[in-house]
Amino acid sequence: MADIGCGQGTSTILMAKAFPRSRFVGSDYHEGSIERARQRADAAEVTGRVSFEVASAQAFGGGPYDLVTTFDALHDMGDPLGAARHVLESLADDGTWMIVEPYAGGAVVDNLNPVGRIYYSLSMILCVPGALSQTGGYSLGAQAGEAPIHRLTADAGFTRFRRVAETPFNIVYEAHP
Ligand SMILES: C[S@@+](CC[C@H](N)C(=O)[O-])C[C@H]1O[C@@H](n2cnc3c(N)ncnc32)[C@H](O)[C@@H]1O
Repeated sequence: MADIGCGQGTSTILMAKAFPRSRFVGSDYHEGSIERARQRADAAEVTGRVSFEVASAQAFGGGPYDLVTTFDALHDMGDPLGAARHVLESLADDGTWMIVEPYAGGAVVDNLNPVGRIYYSLSMILCVPGALSQTGGYSLGAQAGEAPIHRLTADAGFTRFRRVAETPFNIVYEAHP
């Protein structure tokens, strides 16, 4: 499976430990994070099954993958539609894209609570400028909510989408070719 926008590899390594018979490729466009992810995989003794590459979400390598994940990373991308299209190209026909995004309601008024206030603030100083600094000039922002993410997957060519789980801080979606 492929973990896109894996940062320092926390999620990739956790999954590798939980699923010892599976192989994992983590990628992120930030070189320093990938260096750190490699060191952490060494320390966690999962290197035989886990590799990392410096690559943007629009260009990561390998596949076809049974599972692609983005943990809290889709809304940080400047071209999330390009990323979604590349995920679709990289998935096996019966593969799944698991999208973990910050908890958000569909309207501003739904997010006027402590979690929404924290996420809007962080998004304004971190996620939105980060996304706008990339080619694509697009930003979902941390508070995108379900409808824009569903629309993005449909625009990219995914045919099935559903919200599968949520916590007070995150929503988990799945999309299928
Ligand atoms: C909030 S962090 C999440 C990191 C990791 N998934 C985690 O949960 O710890 C968002 C990550 O998305 C990465 N990112 C942003 N835009 C990207 C892009 N276009 N291609 C690949 N990675 C990207 C950032 O470098 C950062 O590591």
